[in-house]
Amino acid sequence: MDDGERLFLAVKLWLVLVPVIITVISNSKLVAACDEVFEADALGFISIDCGASVDYNDIETSLLYVSDTCTDTGEIHEISPDNTWINYYQQQRKNLRSFPQGTRNCYTLKLKQGGNNEYLIRAIFEYGNYDSKNQIPVFDLYIGVNRWATINEAKSIYEIIHVPSLEYLDVCLVNIKQGVPYISVLELRPVDNSIYRKENGALSTIRRYDVGGNKDPIRYPNDSYDRLWSPLNFSDWDVKSTKSTISTQSIDEYKIPAEVLQTAAISENAIYSLSLYFSPPDPVSQCYVYFYFAEIEKLENGKQRELIIDLNGERYLSESKLDYLKAKVIAQNDPPINGSRLHFSIYSVNGSDIPPILNAVEVYVLLELPFSPTNLDDVNAIKDIKRRYKVTRNWQGDPCLPSSLSWDGLQCSNDTIPRITSLNLSSSKLTGEIATSLSNLQAITLLDLSYNSLKGPIPQFVALLPNLKILDLTGNNLTGSVPDALIQKSKDGTLLLRLEENPGLCLSVSRHKQKKYIIPITASTIGVLLILFSFIVLALYIRKRKRVDVGMATGSKKEGSLKSKNQPYTYSEIVSITDNFKTVIGEGGFGKVYYGTLKDKTEVAVKVLSPSSRQGYKEFRAEAEILIFVYHKNLVSLTGYCDDEANKALIYEYMVKGNLRQHLSGTDPNMLSWINRLQIAVDAAHGLDYLHNGCKPPIIHRDLKPSNILLTENLEAKIADFGLSRVVNEEIHSQSTTRPAGTHGYLGPEFNAGVVPNKKSDIYSFGIILFELITGQPAIKGGSGSSYIHILQWVTPEIERGDIQNVVDPRLQGKFNTNAAWKIVDTAMSCVCPTAVDRPDINNVLIELKECLAIEVSSRRNSKTESSNTTTSFLLKQTFLNPSIEMVPGAR
Ligand SMILES: *[C@@H]1O[C@H](CO)[C@@H](O)[C@H](O)[C@H]1NC(C)=O
Repeated sequence: MDDGERLFLAVKLWLVLVPVIITVISNSKLVAACDEVFEADALGFISIDCGASVDYNDIETSLLYVSDTCTDTGEIHEISPDNTWINYYQQQRKNLRSFPQGTRNCYTLKLKQGGNNEYLIRAIFEYGNYDSKNQIPVFDLYIGVNRWATINEAKSIYEIIHVPSLEYLDVCLVNIKQGVPYISVLELRPVDNSIYRKENGALSTIRRYDVGGNKDPIRYPNDSYDRLWSPLNFSDWDVKSTKSTISTQSIDEYKIPAEVLQTAAISENAIYSLSLYFSPPDPVSQCYVYFYFAEIEKLENGKQRELIIDLNGERYLSESKLDYLKAKVIAQNDPPINGSRLHFSIYSVNGSDIPPILNAVEVYVLLELPFSPTNLDDVNAIKDIKRRYKVTRNWQGDPCLPSSLSWDGLQCSNDTIPRITSLNLSSSKLTGEIATSLSNLQAITLLDLSYNSLKGPIPQFVALLPNLKILDLTGNNLTGSVPDALIQKSKDGTLLLRLEENPGLCLSVSRHKQKKYIIPITASTIGVLLILFSFIVLALYIRKRKRVDVGMATGSKKEGSLKSKNQPYTYSEIVSITDNFKTVIGEGGFGKVYYGTLKDKTEVAVKVLSPSSRQGYKEFRAEAEILIFVYHKNLVSLTGYCDDEANKALIYEYMVKGNLRQHLSGTDPNMLSWINRLQIAVDAAHGLDYLHNGCKPPIIHRDLKPSNILLTENLEAKIADFGLSRVVNEEIHSQSTTRPAGTHGYLGPEFNAGVVPNKKSDIYSFGIILFELITGQPAIKGGSGSSYIHILQWVTPEIERGDIQNVVDPRLQGKFNTNAAWKIVDTAMSCVCPTAVDRPDINNVLIELKECLAIEVSSRRNSKTESSNTTTSFLLKQTFLNPSIEMVPGAR
């Protein structure tokens, strides 16, 4: 039986009906409180049926599912759930809540056991074409302040095991302008702290199988953590089961349901292995695998089953004996494993006549959660202010993070645990008195409450805010006297205080009733204030301009100086690193690139700005500014720089395999295989996706071409050369360019019309690169004179004729999967669409390319499996949970 059939079988098994569980658990009636916080039930569970109109007890689990009618945003919709996908959560999937308004909408869950404890969090999305648009919305799912996944399929279940730090956890849906976010189900279950715990992130569930099982799925109440165990059986596996009780003494905390352990599969013969293939979503994902074994057959003569496990042909587990009716977990996750394909083979030890067994298996990948939520005191204070003044705006989720979604009117510090540093609620229709919770915003430097209807006195505490530099209370109805301490601060120049247009306020010290604008009068203090104020304005301005998701260096930026966390080098160090500029490895837009080695023997590439190049300096700066602020594994990274008066250089990681152009050109003997090419396309798309969608505001590369795509030892691709790149503010359309950007052959037709470079022009260039990967031919070929021919001119007719063999690089000698080839050709065609608006976003291109790669990989695996001597193998294909671990890397 081939893998295709196996999958079909697996799919068929999903259709087995779930017997209705009739256990009844008494549940006190719990209703979601209307302050938008969802409370746990007696078990510590939170079960939200998003879009339901009433709370009810679920007939499958008897758990209480609460409606989210108290959520003040969003719309309710009904759909017909697709029961060929899964046959559970039938009630919950009938409705959903969509969020057409606001960028970020959150569900706040109150953690009954508090923070620092472990929870399983599950979210289910079923689009069901509720809006009759037949367009699957794409949006981000956040757990607290970190991105959990991008939801881009019509039906998906996401699940993680996470240790939140605070007592409240926000699960947020973030609109990324590719459709209206929606959600069907949201659940939270406490899990024992001693298992699955990861300090550096959350575990995202990929697979959880009840091997040899027959019920779909096993979950609560059989599983007290409410994990979903789906059955896995293949016709050439022998299913075994027992009714006897299995002792779980040694693995008690895992609480594996008895029903899961009581079924198992063994291979047909002791010489065959049980073998499992599994492809992590990303070859660098850290994978955590849990195998569960229990002997459920009474073996004669006191014999024992003894297993070994191989991973990709190497020993993973040496002999392990099973005891009758005793459960065992094999979790060799220190260190976790990674790779593009993980192939486990479970064997019986040599010479044994007892075949190997497997009872259950779980696979997780680490979801990195690099960001920490804002300081708790600040969060509590600002939430209190939000409640008290009924601030609407976009105040949802964490106030500071992600920085692209920080609350309107707030500024935050860039600390690991951000602090609120400024609050501007000017003209926000605030009424009542000045809220005492403001006193808890201890890091605040600017407080602007001007032009509201605040009344009552100015409280003493405002004078005690240690960092307050600007306080603006202009245009309110404040009364009473101004605290002396405030006036003192204003006098000694540490505070800029504005109190005009408060008719009832009496200025006790100055006694000049008409003069309500207190400003220190000595020249020196004015000077101090001016400097202070301009510093803040400058900082805010820079922050606005340079706000990139990955944080940034703080402070002011002087023209001509580069400040970053990357290491600075002197010119003499550059000379020694490059061994007196011995080896030239390339020539960039602004000078030569030299090979170099750092003191610790790290190989580097050093781009030296040629002093004669004025244009070069602009490009040098552009590149440095972008690379200092962005970091992604598919963008070439800066390790240092030299910014001496006359000599400037940038130091990069050394890319051993040079650039993509070299590899595609006819003379290169180590020609790239088809799968290498697909992987390079995926890598480059990742990098571009980060520039376009991960950075706020987006960065347009403007000069994408194969010679700007560099390759590591393992042929991992990284985008380089940001000399022409621009940070674009998408709201500003008219951006004048003094110089045509990009390279002939990679520019879309709109350039003739003088269109300003934008995301879609990068997509065009990317499409041309894809065609070069596919065909192996350069963008423009031909020799001298007028015989130049553009790649699209010759490739389009071949595609229209349906002749894929003539399109794909003949040097591959047909070694490619036709489906994958057509798919990448289609993707490339969409990218080079003459009308820019019709070109896809890189995000979609990335999804398509990943599918190409998956098609290619699985087609190869199939052909390999046929020739291998393991009879029992299957492909763990990602049909159920859809992990996405495309996290934006943290600030360096
Ligand atoms: C507060 O915001 C308003 C408009 O939203 C702006 O005019 C004012 O300058 C801001 N205050 C400060 C101190 O930046």
